[in-house]
Amino acid sequence: MSSLLEVRNVNKIYKSEGESLEVLQEISFDLKKGESLIITGESGCGKSTLLNIIGGLDSVTSGSINSCGLNITDMGEEKLTSYRKKSVGFIFQFHYLLKDFSALENLMLPLLINGESKKIAKEHALKLINDVGLYDRKKHYPSQLSGGERQRVAIARALANRPKIILADEPTGNLDEMNSGLIQNLLFKLVEDYNKSLILVTHDATIKSKGNFHYSIKSGRFVNQ
Ligand SMILES: Nc1ncnc2c1ncn2[C@@H]1O[C@H](COP(=O)(O)OP(=O)(O)OP(=O)(O)O)[C@@H](O)[C@H]1O
Ligand SMILES: [Mg+2]
Repeated sequence: MSSLLEVRNVNKIYKSEGESLEVLQEISFDLKKGESLIITGESGCGKSTLLNIIGGLDSVTSGSINSCGLNITDMGEEKLTSYRKKSVGFIFQFHYLLKDFSALENLMLPLLINGESKKIAKEHALKLINDVGLYDRKKHYPSQLSGGERQRVAIARALANRPKIILADEPTGNLDEMNSGLIQNLLFKLVEDYNKSLILVTHDATIKSKGNFHYSIKSGRFVNQ
């Protein structure tokens, strides 16, 4: 089976005020459909930078990335926007739910933006809210949900547009240990149920064994430990 994601010799150098910061060096890996990769590493080692590059939110300095059949390192802004909307589901440490919309509406919005009818969007959003165990809270606004519940909605929203890859950047970083475990288990279950590929950045070392692969970033490079 060919890879859904092919990352080849990716280097990222940030330049500011005459100084160069080599954040990523010769990063290469493959991820197939349904596989999960866990990335750990010290603060500032480049985890978010890598995730942002794969998600089309940041660019490489050199190297190439083929994701979902697209060479995203060689794509214009318009195509990148479409890639971000259709192929990638993002989950961040902060939920970024829209405060003036209910949980259900937050799930419907990406679908409506992608051109789904209101009826289809609502049906799909109801299924997703049920998947994350919040059917009874569907009319709650983000301010009326707990931290863990908000992250559940954020997971559901990441799945809404049926992306091929889920990119999760410390999705449980703000939660207590018990909630963090529950949400991570839910994320892995849904990724498996829906046969998605997952890249999860986490500081939680106990979760390493849950992925198909685990790498740490050290001095800009992937190390397998
Ligand atoms: N836009 C930017 N311009 C210059 N330097 C940047 C920029 N974005 C990030 N950096 C630097 O690149 C390095 C990697 O940042 P990154 O956010 O990827 O780290 P991280 O591994 O996600 O850390 P954390 O665990 O704290 O989230 C850091 O040293 C950071 O200061
Ligand atoms: Mg980060």
